[in-house]
Amino acid sequence: MNHQKVIAIDGPSASGKGTVAARVAEKLGWDYLDSGALYRLTALYAEQTQTAWTDEAALAKLAAALPVQFSEQSILLDGRDVTQAIRAEHIGMGASAVAKLPAVRTALLQRQRAFLTERGLVADGRDMGSTVFPDAVLKIFLTADARTRAERRAKQIGAPLSGSLFDQILADIEARDEADRNRPIAPLRRLPDAELLDTTHMGIDESVEQVLAWYREKTDVKTA
Ligand code: DC
Repeated sequence: MNHQKVIAIDGPSASGKGTVAARVAEKLGWDYLDSGALYRLTALYAEQTQTAWTDEAALAKLAAALPVQFSEQSILLDGRDVTQAIRAEHIGMGASAVAKLPAVRTALLQRQRAFLTERGLVADGRDMGSTVFPDAVLKIFLTADARTRAERRAKQIGAPLSGSLFDQILADIEARDEADRNRPIAPLRRLPDAELLDTTHMGIDESVEQVLAWYREKTDVKTA
C-alpha cells in the first residue's frame, strides 16, 4: 500500500496531542495541522455572524468559506487575530456541537487534506487516521486519564488543582469526551492500526521521542 507522508495523532481533549504533534512536526521539518482549530473557527465565525450552532446548512457554508489565514504564530479570521478567542471554553463546546454535523465535516474535509504537501504533515484531531488521512504512514491514539487532562488544563489557565473550578474543568472534559465518543459520525475511537500512547505518566519529551521511534520503525529512516 502507498502510505501518505502523514503522522495522524487522534485523541481526546486536553490530552496534550497538539503540543506533541507540533514538536514532532518541528523535529521532522514537516507541517502541522491542528484540525480542531478549524472546528473552533467555524463555531466562532458562527457566533460572530449570529448563526446557530445547530443550523447545519448555514454552518456548512460558513465552514467551506472560512476567511482564515494561518501563520506560524497566529490565526486570523476575517483579518482579525483570533488565536486566543478560539481557545475559550464555550467555543470548545461550540466546536464540539458543530463537529457533530455531517455537512460541516464534509465542508472541512478538503480543507484539511490541502494542508498536505510533499514536505509531510503531522495532523492532530479526532478522525485524522480514520477519515481525513486513512493512508497515514503512522497513526497514534494519544490519551491520558481524565483527571490528568483536567490537571493539565487547570495548570494552563492558572487554576487550582482542587475545588469547585477544578471540578468544573473535569466535568467539562468528561462531557466533551462523552459527546465526541458517542456521536454517530466520525466518533473518537482508537483504530485497530493505531499505536496507543497513554501519556498519563509521561512528559512531553518522552512522548515526542516515542512518536519518532515509531515513525523510524515504520520507515527505517534516521531523524536528528
Ligand atoms: O482538539 P480540540 O479540543 O481543539 O477540538 C475541538 C472540538 O472539535 C472537539 O470537541 C471535537 C471537534 N473535532 C473533531 O470533531 N474532529 C477533529 N478532527 C478535531 C476536532
